[in-house]
Amino acid sequence: MTRRFSPLVDWIAEEGSDAWALHWEARNALARGEDVIILSVGDPDLDTPPAVVDAAVKAMRSGDTHYTESIGRPALRDAVAAMHVARTGQAVTAANVAVLAGTQNGLFVASLCLAGHGEDVVALDPMYTTYPAAIGASGATLVRVPAPASTGFHPDLAALEAAITPRTRAIFLATPNNPTGVILSEADCDGIADIARRHGLWIVSDEVYAGIAEGGRVPSLAARLPERTLTLGSLSKSHAMTGWRVGWVIGPEDFIVHAENVALCMLYGLPGFIQEAALAALAMREEAESSIRDYCRVRRDLMFRELKDTPGIRLSWPDAGMFMLIDTRATGLSTGDFVRGLFDTERVSLLDGAAFGRETEGFVRVCFAAEEAQLLDAAARIRRYCARIAAG
Ligand SMILES: Cc1ncc(COP(=O)(O)O)c(C=O)c1O
Repeated sequence: MTRRFSPLVDWIAEEGSDAWALHWEARNALARGEDVIILSVGDPDLDTPPAVVDAAVKAMRSGDTHYTESIGRPALRDAVAAMHVARTGQAVTAANVAVLAGTQNGLFVASLCLAGHGEDVVALDPMYTTYPAAIGASGATLVRVPAPASTGFHPDLAALEAAITPRTRAIFLATPNNPTGVILSEADCDGIADIARRHGLWIVSDEVYAGIAEGGRVPSLAARLPERTLTLGSLSKSHAMTGWRVGWVIGPEDFIVHAENVALCMLYGLPGFIQEAALAALAMREEAESSIRDYCRVRRDLMFRELKDTPGIRLSWPDAGMFMLIDTRATGLSTGDFVRGLFDTERVSLLDGAAFGRETEGFVRVCFAAEEAQLLDAAARIRRYCARIAAG
């Protein structure tokens, strides 16, 4: 008898996952001790603040190793709500917060709760590589709306309006965006909120990089349309805590009730000692955010300075975050060939922009969250590679 799987397995087997093959190849080469520089992933070479680690260890040693509430302890939900009020001015309480296993888990829960088979979800293209699968997991159809290079990767609001049909349920976006680093402007947010309001749509605003933006905040969609906006975030980027898997969704109370039901059958609560660590992390939020912000700013400026005059490539200036896009079209190579050739000859791994959508075809993404000496070395290798291409 043939073995069969559910339709879900096809919905989540999206194109984006191939792009990571080169990254994993680079990771394996590094593990074998080879001279490889990995700039293909956004996981800074920073340690989680010691006070956060101490809080986790203390909680674990004191026996905080049992089941917990499925969407987080009240004290942590309170602390997340307080952070959101400070960031956006939107009046929320713990009842508006679900603590989940990272922004990624929040995207998945949001997707499952907002749309389903026969319905559409719009997402701004380019988008983070996991979006197609996270949206597809609900059975809904992903509709891409361009945030094209020609507008500096800001959304085309006319195209957004035109993409809405009676089947559309939600708009997914990230601000600051990965891979472009673009922060939606006040005008972008006004336009998107207006479209969502008129068509009765949800907005899912992924703000995982908001803490790295200037002042630790970005123009807020939730402040404009609180009854229809979910704000997602985590401690991954702001506190160098990617491996801890702590994040949240902030939204209307009825959404949180549904999120709790999903979390109960999917997650069953984050470990208590992780939640205690998260509380310690939020208590030092401003300090942590300002240090990662400075860290990113210094490295962005360094990378920009080192690469800006390289023949055949053009850099896009990111508003915030840890990534920069490089337009490689003038090299005459496909981006797949560009990243492959760079890795094979100079042992530097970047990510093919095509992994993020149609609008970033012709671009590659460099992550500059690495040691400065390593960035200087990587930039020299990229310059050498481009000079060879230019020389034919
Ligand atoms: C835009 C975006 N959303 C979500 C995630 C996942 O973040 P988390 O570690 O909070 O799950 C990432 C990770 O790089 C990201 O870039």
